[in-house]
Amino acid sequence: MGRVFVAGSINMDVVATADRHPRVGETVAGREVLYFPGGKGANQAVAASRLGAKTTLIGRLGKDSFGAELKTFLGAQGIDLGSVRDADTHTGTAIITVAASDNTIVVIPGSNAQVGADDVADVPLAKGDVAVSQFEIPLPTIAAFFRRAREAGVMTVLNPAPAQKMSGELLALVDILVLNETELGFLAGVELTDADETAKIIDVARKLQARADQTICITLGKRGVLALAGREEVAVPGHAVKAVDTTGAGDCFVGALAAQLADGVPLRAALAFANAAASISVQRMGAGPSMPTATEVAAVLRAG
Ligand code: RIB
Ligand code: NA
Repeated sequence: MGRVFVAGSINMDVVATADRHPRVGETVAGREVLYFPGGKGANQAVAASRLGAKTTLIGRLGKDSFGAELKTFLGAQGIDLGSVRDADTHTGTAIITVAASDNTIVVIPGSNAQVGADDVADVPLAKGDVAVSQFEIPLPTIAAFFRRAREAGVMTVLNPAPAQKMSGELLALVDILVLNETELGFLAGVELTDADETAKIIDVARKLQARADQTICITLGKRGVLALAGREEVAVPGHAVKAVDTTGAGDCFVGALAAQLADGVPLRAALAFANAAASISVQRMGAGPSMPTATEVAAVLRAG
């Protein structure tokens, strides 16, 4: 079994729950304030580790109380933190409002902005491993990480979230791109919504595909997942569940997919597994703490 290496963000999520979101300029009364370990990189590493993959996280934390708490939480998930270094600024923080299971997020990068090419220069990547990243650390760091990964024969998985423009060079370093329909539309320069038909979404993915052997997975929430794997199309239906908090659902999917690929599971089965994992995470509050175990995912898959 290969190891999962995640280079990415680590945040403390400061979550306010309310009956509804405020409009611009408006104040609404909230119900609770909650502190959850989050950050897309950390969430993906937690998912991979809880699902049984040997997992290394590469990132940066501030020398403050959030940093210390996050280190304790991530260590308790069995994640190797040998490549998590100190930053000389505050720990990444996300200010989140959750109302009716939907969220709004303001993320302040802090320590995550200091994850540099040196941080990924000495990670011991070996054939069979999987390298994962997202867009909450500097893009040149991701490119350096993926260049090294490809030289070592390691599969690269990119979750380009939150969406921002990326170079053709970076896109070409990606083996598996995982994104939602809004991010796909943004990167392809086309307007896409969750109401668009499968054929249209696949068509846009085909335009974005940077290499003939590249896989593009589009997560569609309740509607499941679509993938374009080389020239083949794969569709995995969604699970009907009652969501309480969708924060980190995409991260759960990415971490679960990486864990399966590191274990040598073929793409279609890996997608079904990751889709089931994400459906569990949305039924629990918080990002990091909502990631499921392999036993829980197996139960969902058995139930169909
Ligand atoms: O993807 C969810 C994550 O995005 C949250 O945990 C928050 O930290 C933001 O980075
Ligand atoms: Na959740």
